[in-house]
Amino acid sequence: MLRCTGCGARIPGEQARSNFRCEECGDLFEVVYPWSEAWGDGLAAGFRPNAGALRHLWAERRTSTMAVDQSGVWRFRDLLPIVTEEQVVTLREGNTPLYDLPKCAKAVGLNWLLAKHQGMNPTGSFKDTGMTAALSVAVARGFEWVACASTGNTSAAMAAYAARAGLRSMVLIPEGKIAWGKLSQSMDYGSTTIQLKTDFDGCVKVLTEIVGRAPVYLLNSVNPYRLEGQKTPAFEMLEQMDWQVPHHLIVPGGNLANCSALGKGFAEMKHLGFIKRVPKISVIQAEGANPLYRWLQAGGEGEFEPVVADTRASAIRIGNPASWKKAVRILRETGGTCEQATEQEIALAKAEIGAEGIGCEPASAVTFAGLKKLVAKGFVGPEETAVLLLTGHTLKDSEYTMLYHRGELLTPAEMAGATLEERAQHAQMRREPVVLEPSADAVLKMLDAAMPAVQTA
Ligand code: F0G
Repeated sequence: MLRCTGCGARIPGEQARSNFRCEECGDLFEVVYPWSEAWGDGLAAGFRPNAGALRHLWAERRTSTMAVDQSGVWRFRDLLPIVTEEQVVTLREGNTPLYDLPKCAKAVGLNWLLAKHQGMNPTGSFKDTGMTAALSVAVARGFEWVACASTGNTSAAMAAYAARAGLRSMVLIPEGKIAWGKLSQSMDYGSTTIQLKTDFDGCVKVLTEIVGRAPVYLLNSVNPYRLEGQKTPAFEMLEQMDWQVPHHLIVPGGNLANCSALGKGFAEMKHLGFIKRVPKISVIQAEGANPLYRWLQAGGEGEFEPVVADTRASAIRIGNPASWKKAVRILRETGGTCEQATEQEIALAKAEIGAEGIGCEPASAVTFAGLKKLVAKGFVGPEETAVLLLTGHTLKDSEYTMLYHRGELLTPAEMAGATLEERAQHAQMRREPVVLEPSADAVLKMLDAAMPAVQTA
């Protein structure tokens, strides 16, 4: 069933309107099951899962040769029974690594820092885990066309999964405002790719009208089935930490759906008795696209004011986030907070994650930039375990990386707020490519000159 997160109205999934907004109050839905806390009579009704048996089953499925078992989303299908196994469209998403970041941990003064790298999914972003779920529902409902408005990653994921399912897909993206890697993916996977002369928020408006007028299935994150897939990295994280719960999970915020998806995942684990507490989930926004941060700073009450968004972290260049209420609920329920990061701070954080041999796209790096502030404020303690959710692969936006290392990314105005220490860090991080004559002498001379940097790195 779908339950309205505003007024609590419950409807069967098939009855949802094309824009996935409640007919009564206009709010967004979440998927609930007879065993869900929000179902009302909780565990009393229907299936009561056996946590121990499920843990074993989920781990065992990874060794199976079946596609649904090899997927890091569908091996948890007992907790997202939204389609039949035959209806599942999968690219073997999920099962992403949980890395430790020793250099970043040291730099920020934590004993231990981890990164759940959702950029290691088939199309290079966390969107795949949600797309496999919602696109499978589109297939089950018999749709021929699917569509999304996107800052790039959703469109790449939708295009890929639609192609696998044999559905037609249409992408609406803001012209000139998404990274090339992402745009090229949607073309490569055969989507009808339309660049609108507006921003992401303008694309959402146009698409909402289209799905009201044509039989096109909306795959933006207002679609509650997306979040069922996007909750599964919470399960994986717990598995990977041997069912120890991290103290903090730090998530980038754009349209603000992912933090609530992960919050739902952890809340379900607690409700079903897998864990005893949930991590504090905190959201980091880019300073130029920070409506949630502003609203909370102003007291967290009343009218939510959208902003005109502008940040080089193009994935989160969103001024009017659809899921802001869901995000606020998760921050409040888990005891998390919201921070913002400047362009300069994001660029430095991205370079530091790159220097761990891992890398991520700029929108993911806001997590580390924000964590530095949370540690400085004492919100994250040195003994506590924090996990950064890295949402996209570094190759998604290689132009950003190239410009940064050539020293051409940040304007003097963007650098103006940098501390002396940050300026020194930038200088140490930058690895500008050099052009040399083809001689060993020239290369060795260059290596000599680079030695101090190598030693201090
Ligand atoms: N990180 C990346 C790499 C993203 O692509 C997005 C969102 C986010 C973070 C923010 O997640 O919206 O759930 O708060 N990208 C969307 C898109 C909007 O169209 O690809 P959120």
